[in-house]
Amino acid sequence: MIKASDFGPDFLWGVATAAPQIEGAADLYGKGTSIWDSFTNRKGKIKNNHKLGVACDFYHRYQEDIALVKLLGFQIFRFSISWPRILPLGRGEVNQEGIRFYHHLINECLTQGITPYVTLYHWDLPQALEDEGGWTSFSINAAFNAFVSICALEYGDKVKNWIILNEPFGYTSLGYMLGIHAPGKTGLSNFFPAVLHTALAQAEGGKILRAEISQANIGTTYSCSEIIPYTQSENDLLAAKRVDSLMNRLFIEPALGLGFPTADWDLLEKFQIEYGTWRLNDRMKFDFDFIGLQNYFPLTVKFNAFIPVIQAWEVKAKSRKKPHTAMGWEINANSFYNIVKQFAAYPNVKNIMITENGAAYHDKLIEGSVVDAERIEYFELYLAALLKAKNEGINISGYMAWTLMDNFEWAEGFNARFGLVHTDFKTLKRTIKYSGYWWQEFLRN
Ligand code: NOJ
Repeated sequence: MIKASDFGPDFLWGVATAAPQIEGAADLYGKGTSIWDSFTNRKGKIKNNHKLGVACDFYHRYQEDIALVKLLGFQIFRFSISWPRILPLGRGEVNQEGIRFYHHLINECLTQGITPYVTLYHWDLPQALEDEGGWTSFSINAAFNAFVSICALEYGDKVKNWIILNEPFGYTSLGYMLGIHAPGKTGLSNFFPAVLHTALAQAEGGKILRAEISQANIGTTYSCSEIIPYTQSENDLLAAKRVDSLMNRLFIEPALGLGFPTADWDLLEKFQIEYGTWRLNDRMKFDFDFIGLQNYFPLTVKFNAFIPVIQAWEVKAKSRKKPHTAMGWEINANSFYNIVKQFAAYPNVKNIMITENGAAYHDKLIEGSVVDAERIEYFELYLAALLKAKNEGINISGYMAWTLMDNFEWAEGFNARFGLVHTDFKTLKRTIKYSGYWWQEFLRN
């Protein structure tokens, strides 16, 4: 049986969240409209047309929720600052109520002995900036930098651990290429400029924090998935390389000073030429103190000439009769081990933190209990895989479970439950699931 102490006395344990997924108070206390507020108002975009209005009501219940973090035994609470709560129009006038809210939240963490890890961008772009083109527009960089500066000056004395962006591939692909997430844009003509401005934002944000906060521990997060070719045919192997360039390498390589990963995919080469990105390689580079990895599943891919752009197709876990979660995501802890090793192999990655990992299941609250044995098993398998990587000498300093409580899972609405704590979205009552108690026990030892 795996024990927390196997990871060593300095290993950090935390739980992660994000503002739009938990806060609620979506149009209260001076907050501006975010692209997710707008997107959820568009019919048919979110399952059951769920809206963001109240979410978990964390805005009003943060004290109770931080107490839960403590009760479960975690040392770290990761949350994000909502850009439109600080700057309702994305730039310009600052909303003092928003500023005060995060002071209260940070103070509460510190009073309860919890270390805050603060994400600066977890997908809730101010709608006013989207109206100018959002991440596709060059003007986003100056606006983001100003937002980062404001947060650094306000909170930098109290918060030392910062995450610039959450999953840049997630929001650029789902939001600006596939249209499944806010702002619902599609096509390469949106995706590529969004990628470029995002790659600039992660480095420039890092440089601002470095200049303005003494002893800052600065990271950014990447979604990552081991890409497994369906067969060893040349076409499948090449398809897997293309998907790997896109899903795993696209944002970390410019941060490491390597530019965009063009070698395995001519389309990225074209993007580089069209946008002259190599001229910006120095500006896209930043020496992060840690790299946050977020892993949920591997992807098995097969060549398919009819799929536009990438000519690859995912062969789903279900059709391969592999174990999967309620999201249909394959459970494969060995692929977690493999992808952590893939990222650790970059010479300039100094330190890795797992900033998200977890699973959604069809949890049921029965007579006051949620017996989520599958989630416990998921954590046991994934933590054992992580320990194996750590014991092989990889510098992994912490792990954060996704997520504290069931919350707004983007296009899935409130249906996909990832929490260690069950949220009743009618009464907002929190109930610790068996997996929450499992963590409590695990961290106690
Ligand atoms: C990644 C995202 O950062 C988070 O917001 C999301 O809820 C989880 N993955 C689960 O999909």
